[in-house]
Amino acid sequence: SELLEYCPSEASPADIGGHEALKHWLEQRHMAFSEEAMRYGLPLPRGVLLVGPQGTGKSLTAKAIAHSWSMPLLRLDVGRLFAGLVGASEARTRDMIQRAEAMAPCVLWIDEIDKGFGGDSRSDGGTSQRVLGTVLTWMAEKTSAVFVVATANGVDKLPGELLRKGRFDEIFLLDLPSADERHSILDLQLRRRRPKHSITLEVLVDRTAGFSGAELEQTVIEAMHLAFAEQREFGEADLIAAASQVVPLSRTAREQLEALQAWASGGRARPASRG
Ligand SMILES: Nc1ncnc2c1ncn2[C@@H]1O[C@H](COP(=O)(O)OP(=O)(O)O)[C@@H](O)[C@H]1O
Ligand SMILES: [Mg+2]
Repeated sequence: SELLEYCPSEASPADIGGHEALKHWLEQRHMAFSEEAMRYGLPLPRGVLLVGPQGTGKSLTAKAIAHSWSMPLLRLDVGRLFAGLVGASEARTRDMIQRAEAMAPCVLWIDEIDKGFGGDSRSDGGTSQRVLGTVLTWMAEKTSAVFVVATANGVDKLPGELLRKGRFDEIFLLDLPSADERHSILDLQLRRRRPKHSITLEVLVDRTAGFSGAELEQTVIEAMHLAFAEQREFGEADLIAAASQVVPLSRTAREQLEALQAWASGGRARPASRG
């Protein structure tokens, strides 16, 4: 159906820099889909909620889960779910759930769930509330191997029911990368383009505090443009020059990020990175 889009994915956890605790947790949950785990008495994993600022690898993680678990990735188009006639959304939601279950084992990816369910319920006659209720009830009762991966850039607009323990197996905060994490992301992004690179990264790591993973990738691409225009190979100096031109989102959206960090530190979400 058009509500569920099949997403081909080649990403693997090895493409994710940092987020070591999250990757470790995912490995454990993957094992729980085996017959051995079932005999052991483990329940099927339900899903995970990934929250964090833009560009920290939430979508990348959803793709990596499906690919490394060899499951189809079905992305729910939340916008389409709510489009059209009042009342149609609930029927479409039940239909969507049936289709996902028919594909099990699979990963159901609800990307940017805060956009779909974060609206004002008074403005849509309660439709989003009822659709959310349908999804949450299904998640609580489901016995099928549909692993739900939801992502959100913020939690301030998310309904409390969604964040309550027991809906998802776990809620992870994907924060901006630490210095060590920036090092591994830069190295990953460079090796994607120059598999044998030997660029020194210490100064660059220093100059990119506050950058997201996406902004680190953007820095690498910008450095390549700089050098390519001069018909030469790029190096450390180009990367440093490129980094100085990027204004990281964290500088402009600082308050929003701090609110999210404060929320998560109250024990409501686990840090995706170790420590
Ligand atoms: N932790 C990371 N490790 C490696 N690359 C990353 C990481 N975070 C972001 N990126 C790069 O930035 C791109 C965009 O990230 P994305 O997963 O779409 O961010 P989000 O969904 O959190 O906004 C990714 O495809 C990847 O190339
Ligand atoms: Mg995303």
